[in-house]
Amino acid sequence: MDQATRLCRSLMERHHDRSSFVVALGGGVIGDLAGFVASIFYRGIPCVQIPTTIIAQVDSSLGGKTGVNTHEGKNLIGTYHQPCLVISDPDTLTTLPRRVFQEGFAEIIKHAAIRDADMLDELEALDPADQRLSPELIARNVGIKARIVEEDERDSPGARALLNFGHTIGNAIEASSPNGNLLHGEAVSRGIRAALHLSEQVTGLKADDSQRILDLLAKFKLPLTLDDEVTNENILTYLLRDKTFMKGMRHFILLERNGHAIKNEEVTDEHLHGTFAHLRTGV
Ligand SMILES: NC(=O)c1ccc[n+]([C@@H]2O[C@H](COP(=O)([O-])OP(=O)(O)OC[C@H]3O[C@@H](n4cnc5c(N)ncnc54)[C@H](O)[C@@H]3O)[C@@H](O)[C@H]2O)c1
Ligand SMILES: [Zn+2]
Repeated sequence: MDQATRLCRSLMERHHDRSSFVVALGGGVIGDLAGFVASIFYRGIPCVQIPTTIIAQVDSSLGGKTGVNTHEGKNLIGTYHQPCLVISDPDTLTTLPRRVFQEGFAEIIKHAAIRDADMLDELEALDPADQRLSPELIARNVGIKARIVEEDERDSPGARALLNFGHTIGNAIEASSPNGNLLHGEAVSRGIRAALHLSEQVTGLKADDSQRILDLLAKFKLPLTLDDEVTNENILTYLLRDKTFMKGMRHFILLERNGHAIKNEEVTDEHLHGTFAHLRTGV
């Protein structure tokens, strides 16, 4: 929020007005902050997104959600402000730190799991040492996110909830990690493993389908087991604050089969505790 104020002041000092536009060049943090500033400056000026991380190219630069963090939490202050243009250059990914490159695959694998089982073949054929993504693979992921957002732009809650696959427990793991140095994709990969385990119990996902997704996460060196310092109690505390636990209902996004996600409300305490125990075992 402080950065948003600073940027607005800086725009005014430089005499920008409603005829100006903002360019967000960077990862998801920059995109969310710059998009937020663009949405409030003069009640909204255009924003061009130029995302430079995988998460930003396949996820955060699309769909119009912007926002800033406060001490009270993530995603509490924000707006919907669609970019007027998104430019993704795959070459920017080559300078990413290895860990940041790898974590991006959690969101790509999520897209394949919920909407595009054929993309699993393409991901299985990739060389994990090659720090490049083809423009076609980026475009394929942009298409998945864009179609879902078109169905439910304002998260009202409709199709957009499907994008939360792996995020309900993943976000709670991210929030409960005491040292705070867990990357988003590293929390989501454990969240995806949890969602796969719940899907096997509740919506009849076949173990082979589940294993295919786990093998891909492992291929991109994404962690799949919980650290000891992340306790079940902490995860549960954050889960209860999650907006997907609306009015006491537990909305989980689960898979019936690879490529086909659904909203489900049948997850019990017993399922959750079984899943937490499962996340403490090796793959
Ligand atoms: N708005 C949305 O719909 C949405 C969706 C998903 C995630 N997000 C948000 O996105 C953020 C995560 O985004 P992220 O994963 O891009 O992280 P990030 O923006 O923190 O970038 C990760 C790191 O990579 C560096 N970096 C960026 N591009 C680089 C490049 N080309 N070469 C070298 N280093 C580079 C950054 O400086 C940073 O240190 C989170 O805050 C999350 O809440 C928003
Ligand atoms: Zn995410």
